[in-house]
Amino acid sequence: MRLDKYIASCTGLTRKEVKKSLKKTPAYVAGEKVSAPETQVDIKTKVVFLGEHLHYSEFTYILMNKAAGYVCTNRSGRNPTVFTLLHDDIKAKDLFTVGRLDKDTTGLLLITNDGDFSHRMIHAKKHVDKTYFLTVDRKIPESAIEQFKNGVDIGDEDLTKPATLEILSDTTANLTISEGRFHQVKRMMEAVGCTVTALKRLSIGPFTLDENLSEGEYRLFNDEEMDFVKNAGR
Ligand code: URA
Repeated sequence: MRLDKYIASCTGLTRKEVKKSLKKTPAYVAGEKVSAPETQVDIKTKVVFLGEHLHYSEFTYILMNKAAGYVCTNRSGRNPTVFTLLHDDIKAKDLFTVGRLDKDTTGLLLITNDGDFSHRMIHAKKHVDKTYFLTVDRKIPESAIEQFKNGVDIGDEDLTKPATLEILSDTTANLTISEGRFHQVKRMMEAVGCTVTALKRLSIGPFTLDENLSEGEYRLFNDEEMDFVKNAGR
């Protein structure tokens, strides 16, 4: 594989950005200084780029701060998909979102092409907690805390699984759920008489929204997050 492609794939940079950087600062390929982007490297070769030892992964893992107005499907339709926010080199990789957020929801979204990882994160039996920050149109009743702990009827066959509501102000709260039913947070709040006016996902299991990312921005998983992918949650 070409060196620029290899580095782009490990860092999330575009090949253009990698080429520009290599001109200024060569990489070390098996200990040798290299600035030619077309240099062929094997995925097992030790590559150091800007002081970092790169790790090649068969799969791609992206952490995004989703912007409102984007949908999580792969099909292009009336609304832009979250994939249109990705640069072309990454886009080419058969990616899909780990679960879905509604078009108007913002916050943490994981995108990958690793089906096994995605399954571990969203399968109901795995009980991965997801925390949302929500704003509603009226005062949240205190009784919702107990109701959500016991499960509420949102019109499905089963009550919702125990969830934790932390009321932050009259009209804002954090809600942690372990399921991923369609419009679940909005429907749970409707069940206690409130309409959600803004919704932002803060975390999924050990993954948290990166406050350095503005809405619509993304980065590849960091080392700690990659450790989780490789070692935990199996
Ligand atoms: N619950 C919702 O209602 N919407 C989302 O986007 C996510 C969870």
